[in-house]
Amino acid sequence: MLASSKDHSVVITFNGNKFEMPVVIGTNGEMAIDISRLRDQTGFITIDPGYANTGSCKSAITYMDGEKGILLYRGIPVEQLAEHSTFKETAFLLINGRLPTENELNRLSELLNEYSIVHEDMKLFYQNFPRGSHPMGILSAMVNAVKFFYPELHDIQEENNVTVTRLLSKLRTMAAMSYKISRGHKVIYPRPDLSYCANFLNMMFESPVEPYEIRPEVVDALRVFWILHADHEQNCSTSAVRLVGSARVNLYAAISSGIAALWGPLHGGANQAVIEMLKNIRNSGGNYQHFLNRAKDKNDPFRLMGFGHRVYKTYDPRAKIMKKVCHKLLDSLSVGGDPLLEIAQELEAATLKDDYFVSRHLYPNIDFYSGIVLRAIGIPTNMFTVMFAIGRLPGWIAQWLESINDPDFKLNRPRQIYIGPERHDYVPVRERGQQNSFGRTEKEAFKVGVGFSTND
Ligand code: CMC
Repeated sequence: MLASSKDHSVVITFNGNKFEMPVVIGTNGEMAIDISRLRDQTGFITIDPGYANTGSCKSAITYMDGEKGILLYRGIPVEQLAEHSTFKETAFLLINGRLPTENELNRLSELLNEYSIVHEDMKLFYQNFPRGSHPMGILSAMVNAVKFFYPELHDIQEENNVTVTRLLSKLRTMAAMSYKISRGHKVIYPRPDLSYCANFLNMMFESPVEPYEIRPEVVDALRVFWILHADHEQNCSTSAVRLVGSARVNLYAAISSGIAALWGPLHGGANQAVIEMLKNIRNSGGNYQHFLNRAKDKNDPFRLMGFGHRVYKTYDPRAKIMKKVCHKLLDSLSVGGDPLLEIAQELEAATLKDDYFVSRHLYPNIDFYSGIVLRAIGIPTNMFTVMFAIGRLPGWIAQWLESINDPDFKLNRPRQIYIGPERHDYVPVRERGQQNSFGRTEKEAFKVGVGFSTND
């Protein structure tokens, strides 16, 4: 239960004056100092690079305990949802705050089916992206564009309900469509008789010359993959959705910014980076020790992809489930295993015995095994992060809805401590000498692609 307690306040003393800051206590006893009046009362702001100690909101959606490895969606352990729930039901849970009744679930299925077709004109957009464009860039642009294809509804509540379900349904159609178009293949339309996950697989892999066999074990692996990615409280992309959403942009624009943030290799792009790293290890003869040494070398920017997490300081609970799914899927497909899985296991075993990783609590995160699962399903590597985006969509939507309806709603606008030059006067261009404003010579600036020639 959320509480604000007089018994738990923090007193800041400065220049002999005492300032009392209330403490906010969350459902599971986690505590925060409410500094919303700090600047008014003291003139101070706080500095917290990477926001590692900053709570940006109060939220009732997801609870995670990074020390104990706990992850709950609306109070339900993710392990139970991965075992018993469908992705559709989990999406409803996150967005509406409770599990759906049977009627609600049936109605959701009808709506997802109704909205699953994408406007035919969108195909033209897809066809005009330059060849080789990354699907995450395309997806981010296309989601932003969805708004122009559908008329605005006058009632805000209706607009939100329709937009949310429309996007849940269309994102998977759009993702599969981009894959088909990128290969120059016929677009496959959604089918009303298939589940959310099976429908996506069919749109990705069905072909007029080679019918796709929908295998239950593959559908199940995808179901778990998407459930495990469905929300993860205030991570980088979710924070992007909330921050951009705080300008009161439409849902599509907010989600589009989340997709852009997720693309980064330190966030959702890690699943692609893991596979590329494992392939590099394989191509260099399987010598993972060399990669371990590079990851530990402070002078080398290389990091072991799929290891470490800002919040989890123990084994990522999602990674535990993903590892099991990975083994189960590879066994059931009987495709003779995946050599990358062997390398992954050896690498994991080596890190668990290595003081560098142990002392920094660097364990495999969800991305470490999810790439191997996606490979086994047949998803091409450059679509991995798109798969993460489809999974994360319900979480982004839930967080966006919560933030715009928050009684404490405010435009997000952090402050800063300025450390640049002091006030000084403008110098006319001819009096500036040969150094450009970045402190580099013109030649150097030209080489790195910044600054302008004084001859311009
Ligand atoms: N390989 C080698 N060293 C690492 C790694 C890694 N993967 N991750 C962290 N470290 C080291 C880091 O160099 C630092 O060492 P020192 O204390 O000697 O300076 C220490 O561990 C703490 O690292 P940090 O950068 O302060 O930790 P962070 O909380 O800012 O970083 C992270 C979290 C996920 C960005 C980072 O662990 C990382 O870059 N991991 C690889 C990328 C990856 O797998 N990302 C997916 C995250 S899970 C998916 C999601 O939820 O988005």
